[in-house]
Amino acid sequence: MLEHFKHPRNVGSMENPDGKATEGSPACGDMVSVYIKVDEASKKISDIKFESYGCASNIATGSIITEMAKGKTLEEAKQLTWKDASAALGGLPPIKAHCSVLAIEGLRGAIQNYEERHDLVKVKEPTTEAIVLKRLKRVMNPLKGLDMVATKLVKSVEVKDGIIRIAVDMPANHQFAAAIRDEARERLETLWDIKGVEIEFN
Ligand code: FES
Repeated sequence: MLEHFKHPRNVGSMENPDGKATEGSPACGDMVSVYIKVDEASKKISDIKFESYGCASNIATGSIITEMAKGKTLEEAKQLTWKDASAALGGLPPIKAHCSVLAIEGLRGAIQNYEERHDLVKVKEPTTEAIVLKRLKRVMNPLKGLDMVATKLVKSVEVKDGIIRIAVDMPANHQFAAAIRDEARERLETLWDIKGVEIEFN
């Protein structure tokens, strides 16, 4: 674990990734981003990078899962669990389990993002308000270190004719408004039946 924390592999962002995700932890307010390049024909992860705004365990887990996922097919990489990561690191204290879960969620999120961008999602259910809210629960409110639903930033959600409309309880000129809008949009516009995402701040 210490070796991967001190010398993390595959650190950094990636230009034009095929899939990417940023996940936040409600347990501690930390964040991790994962970027992947995927070989179209074999569906293998040809390159992978991560950035962490988390603790030593999170950095070490990000490092080990990127090593484990590289060269695997998307289906194989989806099977990786935080237990695999923890075992490969020689064990993590139980209180640090959420840090490795966060890194695994980043990897799964990047794979999901790839599949949605490439129309590879197998189960295509129509987007509902509940699905939108579920995704917004993964958008962090930086003011509180918790998601935007838990912190009651979401005033209303409407899905109609392929357009998602969201009202956010925050002034449009707030320092975090642009970041929240971009992240919410990123998580929603890849939904297969969505043509547009309109987010209103007030
Ligand atoms: Fe936040 Fe580990 S304590 S990621």
